Amino acid sequence: MEKNSYEEARKRMVAGQLVPRGIEDTKILDAFLNIPRHLFVPDRQKKYAYEDYPLPIGWKQTISQPFIVALMTQFLHPDKGEKALEIGTGSGYQAAILVYLGCDVYSIERIPQLAEEAKEMLNSLGLEVKIKVDDGTLGWLEAGPFDKIIVTAAAEDIPQPLIEQLKNGGRLIMPVGGFFDQELTLVDKFSNDKIVRSGVGKCVFVPLLGAYGYKE
Ligand SMILES: C[S@@+](CC[C@H](N)C(=O)[O-])C[C@H]1O[C@@H](n2cnc3c(N)ncnc32)[C@H](O)[C@@H]1O
Repeated sequence: MEKNSYEEARKRMVAGQLVPRGIEDTKILDAFLNIPRHLFVPDRQKKYAYEDYPLPIGWKQTISQPFIVALMTQFLHPDKGEKALEIGTGSGYQAAILVYLGCDVYSIERIPQLAEEAKEMLNSLGLEVKIKVDDGTLGWLEAGPFDKIIVTAAAEDIPQPLIEQLKNGGRLIMPVGGFFDQELTLVDKFSNDKIVRSGVGKCVFVPLLGAYGYKE
């Protein structure tokens, strides 16, 4: 596909998949119009990059459906200058969206090859993300606390280190539940460490593997 066709595909994705399902934040829509999602998927998947479903990215992992990326981003409410932590770098696409929105992005991936590929792609697009290979369920203590935390893999509960590394006034979003279906869960942390959790919709994610996630 030519560059222009990808641009057209992005416009169709935004107009056909995101806007009708309630993604209204124009800055987020702008990010989806501008970040070249096809560069974050393997060659044989490029023709499907803007379709309404997740795609395999190797190592039994996926890049989430565009709408789910947009929905999680909208719930997270990222603001310019905020420090954001992503658990599950995968392809690097979600991280790219957060950088586009002006966040200072830290991202952790447990599979070294995915982390490396994501780093190369983000660098080639001039998008700065601090990426490390580690168990993201432990968070990133030295870099925290964070205004926003997004976990793009599912566990039975929210890893305690992530709650601890969230600033007062901060927000976390993560799929929580069983192996095959989960609830997208928002955590708002208020002053004196008060936590309010709310379920905002059903979803299906790959498992979060680690000390505070599923055991390998
Ligand atoms: C659905 S994919 C993430 C999609 C990614 N956000 C993107 O934009 O392409 C989930 C990712 O979480 C990673 N993962 C699972 N458990 C992890 C852990 N404990 N720490 C870091 N990454 C983890 C997987 O290897 C996988 O790459």
